[in-house]
Amino acid sequence: MGEIQGYRRNYPGTQPRHLHPAYVSSIKRAPLQPLVRLPHTLSEITGPLFGPEIVDRKAYDLTRQHSGEPLGERIVVSGRVLDENARPVGNTLIEIWQANAAGRYLHSRDQHNAPLDPNFTGCGHTMTDSEGRYRFVTILPGKYPWGNHYNAWRPAHIHFSLFGPAFATRLVTQMYFPGDPLLPFDPIFNCTDDEKARNRLVSFFDWETTIPSQALGYRFDIVLSGRDSTPMETHLHGEKS
Ligand SMILES: [Fe+2]
Repeated sequence: MGEIQGYRRNYPGTQPRHLHPAYVSSIKRAPLQPLVRLPHTLSEITGPLFGPEIVDRKAYDLTRQHSGEPLGERIVVSGRVLDENARPVGNTLIEIWQANAAGRYLHSRDQHNAPLDPNFTGCGHTMTDSEGRYRFVTILPGKYPWGNHYNAWRPAHIHFSLFGPAFATRLVTQMYFPGDPLLPFDPIFNCTDDEKARNRLVSFFDWETTIPSQALGYRFDIVLSGRDSTPMETHLHGEKS
């Protein structure tokens, strides 16, 4: 039997607020009433199970999904997935999606006046190994404008989904890059009030995973719950916020 660990409630302000008026679409989206907890049924807590058999082994490398190489700066993004007691979460599905080097998504809703890249789709997935480690090879995503306010630009970011053992456990977040001048102005990044917690969303440059003559390495560890948890767009906060 494993070691019994105490439950530690999150510190206030360490997860994004549902309502953050500077992030304009949160005004309509934020709940006006206290959240109602729905009892989970078997279908939500037992599956679907995504094991190694569903993983496309090449999907971790977003630079090799087409006949040619995508434009932009190659990067390696790697890290560990940990639980609230800093134990590795192994064999769990991680998916990412992102804009191309010019700041354009391959998506019908993205009308940004920037070129698509025929050699870059912008989606990848992988499983963590038994030590909770994951690794992606991709392109540094471009910054892009959005309609939140006058002259609004998103900092460079990669969207992450951590599926977990069932539909009800899926978590979604965004990873940013160190030194991005847009971070202080980004309403989505700044939805999390606590500065220390917010900065857990910023990866750090890593010589250890940098490949000579090939790609710069960035490290991004993800903590799923507890006091050191990574801010998640999908966490239930319990309070009206
Ligand atoms: Fe995005």
